[in-house]
Amino acid sequence: MAIFTVIIGVVLGLCLLSTFLLRWNEMKYKKKGLPPGTMGWPLFGETTDFLKQGPSFMKNQRARYGSVFKSHILGCPTIVSMDPELNRFILMNEGKGIIPGYPQSMLDILGKSNIAAVHGPAHKNMRGALLSLVSPSVIREQILSKIDEFMRSHLLNWSNQIIDIQEKTKEMALLSSLRQISGTESSLLSKEFMREFFNLVVGTLSLPINLPNTNYHRGLQARKNIVRMLEELIDERRRSQETHKDMLGLLMSGVENRYKLSDEEMIDQIITILYSGYETVSTTSMMAVKYLHDHPRVLEELRKEHLGIRERKMAEDPLDWNDYKSMKFTRAVIFETSRLATIVNGVLRKTTKEMELNGFVIPEGWRIYVYTREINYDPCLYPDPYTFNPWRWLDRSLETQNYFFIFGGGTRQCPGKELGIAEISTFLHYFVTKYRWEEVGGDKLMKFPRVEAPNGLHIRVSDMPK
Ligand code: HEM
Repeated sequence: MAIFTVIIGVVLGLCLLSTFLLRWNEMKYKKKGLPPGTMGWPLFGETTDFLKQGPSFMKNQRARYGSVFKSHILGCPTIVSMDPELNRFILMNEGKGIIPGYPQSMLDILGKSNIAAVHGPAHKNMRGALLSLVSPSVIREQILSKIDEFMRSHLLNWSNQIIDIQEKTKEMALLSSLRQISGTESSLLSKEFMREFFNLVVGTLSLPINLPNTNYHRGLQARKNIVRMLEELIDERRRSQETHKDMLGLLMSGVENRYKLSDEEMIDQIITILYSGYETVSTTSMMAVKYLHDHPRVLEELRKEHLGIRERKMAEDPLDWNDYKSMKFTRAVIFETSRLATIVNGVLRKTTKEMELNGFVIPEGWRIYVYTREINYDPCLYPDPYTFNPWRWLDRSLETQNYFFIFGGGTRQCPGKELGIAEISTFLHYFVTKYRWEEVGGDKLMKFPRVEAPNGLHIRVSDMPK
């Protein structure tokens, strides 16, 4: 009986304490003009619910509080916007009190000149320099042949093997970018670089606690090692005075003398290119393989497009710009994959001053989560939205409509969009013309907070019959 009373007492005490803590946290963030919503627990906020329930958490909060609500996720008081109109407004109006709001660990590890850490004129300069490295003419003249050469060798000898396509597409995204950046030297760099780069990526997504054995610490170390490797490469090139037709060559020439970046800025620019194109390109490629496997009619149509291109060429001829431009259905497959899998859930911004948005007053220093996921499943834009239907993208107006946020929007719209599409298209070209594949089965796929196969996505590959 006494034990029973103690248990009841403890349970009641815990209930009271929880109610007090939740109330106290609500009061702490109670400010006139803020949107409705809940702030969860002190310090942790609603992060656990957000990570556990993912999209359902967002949809439930929207049902209770409307499409703009407050919360406390990933360590910050946050305004979540699921309102397409407001999302567009925020993306279009950077500078007027809104700047990127990416986590501290990401900014520390990617460097102080990385594009997400700079705004105003510094952003304009870094972005200008980057755009001139990946413009359509540079892709046509320099990059496409490097991608083609890389994909051919990367896709060699997959036949009669079980392949983890997640691992292969990750390696592909990194090594293909490295080849574009440092041409011939990339093969010397690649092994050591790859190990450090994977540590760097994990570090950017960790809590910024700089103690030995934390992912953050390992990420900072990895950054140091990558910076050292790139500095050595730059020194080497300066000494040899050879000209190189690759991204580093362009950067060192001041991108044809228009954008003069310091060595530190060049290195941060390179790390930005590698980082930004890594998970986006690899996950889209992996998910395209998954959807193509599950939709034989789409695979048949895609293969027809690529075999048609091959028929016009000799076996060893590389893909050229006209081939790439003719890949209309491939482009549609890539967009439909990005939409249905939602590779990017949204983007983060931060207020630099108190400001009004949609009639709400947002305090200075709050994060804004421009959550664009749900627009991908809007039946008005995409009839029958949960069906994988690439044909819908053959109407090009879908790519130019106001709520096409797969590559972001406004002043920070993805500068690597065409490069990413060219890489995935070239990968698909060699993959579907060389191979058939079936899934080994049983692999789990997670959709949130990132699309990933925690234990890999295994496929059994065989040659396409001649
Ligand atoms: C399928 C592939 C890709 C997808 C889905 C994608 C998606 C996005 C999105 C949504 C943004 C907006 C971020 C924001 O507003 O904060 C963005 C920005 C960016 N992307 Fe991509 N991206 C892809 C490939 C690439 C590639 C290959 C590169 C390499 C050059 C790249 C470089 C960047 C950079 C540097 C930014 C920041 C731009 C700025 O802040 O001005 N992306 N990307």
